[in-house]
Amino acid sequence: MLEEIPDIIIYYDNGELQDCKIRNPFFSYFCAMLKQTLLKATEAGAAQLTHFFNGEFKISNKEGINNLVTEADHAAEKAIFEVIQREHPDHYILSEETGEIVMDSSYKWIIDPIDGTVNFANGIPICCVSIGLEQDGQMIMGAVYNPFLNELFFAQRGFGATLNDTIIHVSDKTEVIHSCLVTGFPYTYLDAPNGPLQVFEKLIRKGVPVRRLGSAAIDLCWVAAGRFDGFYEHKLQAWDSAAGFLIVEEAGGKVTDFKGDHYSPYQPHIIATNGKIHNELVAIVNGADV
Ligand code: IPD
Ligand code: CA
Ligand code: CA
Repeated sequence: MLEEIPDIIIYYDNGELQDCKIRNPFFSYFCAMLKQTLLKATEAGAAQLTHFFNGEFKISNKEGINNLVTEADHAAEKAIFEVIQREHPDHYILSEETGEIVMDSSYKWIIDPIDGTVNFANGIPICCVSIGLEQDGQMIMGAVYNPFLNELFFAQRGFGATLNDTIIHVSDKTEVIHSCLVTGFPYTYLDAPNGPLQVFEKLIRKGVPVRRLGSAAIDLCWVAAGRFDGFYEHKLQAWDSAAGFLIVEEAGGKVTDFKGDHYSPYQPHIIATNGKIHNELVAIVNGADV
């Protein structure tokens, strides 16, 4: 459902008025249209996940040993494209299975039709549709929907993050040793200093719980919802993190590359945390002891 976006935003801190912004009503109207397209496209993709889940579908392999693509990935991508191209035919699209549909536009939709395909192909209901929307190179909206848990995460830059329309916040843990983390591993083993297995081993040896769900978009949303305190991964693509990283930031968290610098989904490394454990986790991923 389309929600009303306020034209006036009032910021309070401890009950005190801090700031008040009057937004351009035309901009608000256009954002509401973009949000409606985003949610419709997400739902259309998710309907294909539900349709194929646990049924018969074709599976083929991409580069790597178990880097799968299923008939459902293609069907979800097609359904998502239909919505976006009907409503914004002049917008740029970057999508995992099709690649780029280059347009001369400020708006770019970044789509993962199924994030967690290996889970999907094995009947594990931890997978989702993930769609981020960039304007002039800045992520402005993102939606991640897992139809099997009926969890829709959404964020719009400057407006916070929600789970099924309820505002969400990151956790407030302050030390990695007392945190619950999540990570993922690339399809092809990455043999590098401070690689995925070394960082994982170091944390596990110290008794820090590190989960591996198999969907980076869900990992990020679960950091946003405070279920995890932090997430790191060594090799992601733009479509894995486009929506989720904005959802974490809008839930009050911090997202950077491995140097602790400004995050771009066009480079492989990601560290996303509640903000409080961020510097410590950056150091650990770079070789420091837990
Ligand atoms: C994968 C998942 C996984 C991550 C991989 C991704 P896919 O995406 O997000 O959690 O570890 O690096 O490629 O292939 O299921 O869309
Ligand atoms: Ca993915
Ligand atoms: Ca995918």
